[in-house]
Amino acid sequence: MKQTIKLLVLFTLGFAVFSCASNSSSEQTVTPVVVEMPEVELIDYTVRLRDAADARNMIFGVAVEPRFFNNPHYSHAVKNHFNTLVAGNQMKFSYLQPRENSFRYNGADKLVTFAEENSMKFRGHVLLWHSDYQIPQWVKEKPYSELTAVVENHVDNVMTYYANKIYAWDVANEIILDDGKGLRNNTESGQTYSVWASSPTDDSLIRAAFYQADRTRKANNDPVKLFLCDYSVNEMGRAKADKMYEIVAQWVADGVPIDGVAFQCHLMERFTPNYDKIRENIDRYHALGLEVQFTEVDVRIQEPYTEEKLQNQAAIYEGMLQVALDKGLDTFVIWGINDKDSWIPSVFGGYGSALIFNDDFTVKPAGQALYNKLSE
Ligand code: XIL
Repeated sequence: MKQTIKLLVLFTLGFAVFSCASNSSSEQTVTPVVVEMPEVELIDYTVRLRDAADARNMIFGVAVEPRFFNNPHYSHAVKNHFNTLVAGNQMKFSYLQPRENSFRYNGADKLVTFAEENSMKFRGHVLLWHSDYQIPQWVKEKPYSELTAVVENHVDNVMTYYANKIYAWDVANEIILDDGKGLRNNTESGQTYSVWASSPTDDSLIRAAFYQADRTRKANNDPVKLFLCDYSVNEMGRAKADKMYEIVAQWVADGVPIDGVAFQCHLMERFTPNYDKIRENIDRYHALGLEVQFTEVDVRIQEPYTEEKLQNQAAIYEGMLQVALDKGLDTFVIWGINDKDSWIPSVFGGYGSALIFNDDFTVKPAGQALYNKLSE
């Protein structure tokens, strides 16, 4: 049976105009107008991943953009299948502080409000990230010596604004070079350039961000957890994964306030992950007393998208969820709902179909596989 909703849009056109110059005031009121929109038939999902995740007490999330919520099918799918939201972009530096000391929270607030209205948790992504177009020009123009103050101010403002609304923050994201030789830094160029370090070994700004995050959460009595996030760091024995562990282990030894590491998990259908190596990697973080979360899962497929590839993809999603369940990870976040709105095709040419819902918001084999696994 399909469910039908009728959308009523209420334009309240009452407004007041005050003229200070003439020191007189006039008020104009217009009767509210009710516009009836066409009826929208929403899917009556018989498979609701959210219920299955809730039953396991698992934080099962999705990355979203405010503009997608204009589509009632999208909101309906989000509410039915996920108990947690992450901002796909809206909490990045250039969105929240486009000009120095001028914070703009309206885009992110829409998402946080939706989460609150639908009893969902919120995961914070991200305070520090190198990616060029996500860093405002004014930050790029600052001398390195002034960036500690910039970092501390940003972290303090954003975490205070969202205090007690976010359960975990990615304090820093993608700080490690792909070859595992150190940190992205400002002596590099292109993809490996980052304003947040001055050499492959200089982690002082990143550490400053964690220390500030800790001060801010304490000042706000906020139990939020602090995470370092990266991609291609899942499997023990790979250079980048081992470098991440080395850095984090040093931080723990030095008392840097970090609660865990977030593995993005942007995977490819062509390569079956080495699940044993992922387990071993998780074990060594647990041994340090840290948490591990999977926070940006998607499994991209090379065109053409055959039924066989969709089944392989489902097996990889399921395999990753199995690891998360076996190791007691509390968080599994997928980087989007439907394939049309995924970031993959624009960044990885010839790849797509990476998510668990079709564009008509029906569940793909991967979504069904996750549901089955969560329901076991
Ligand atoms: C991506 C967004 O999904 C895109 O819309 C945006 O154009 C670029 O950033 N790793 C991350 C995420 O940590 O923030 C990225 O999100 C995807 C890769």
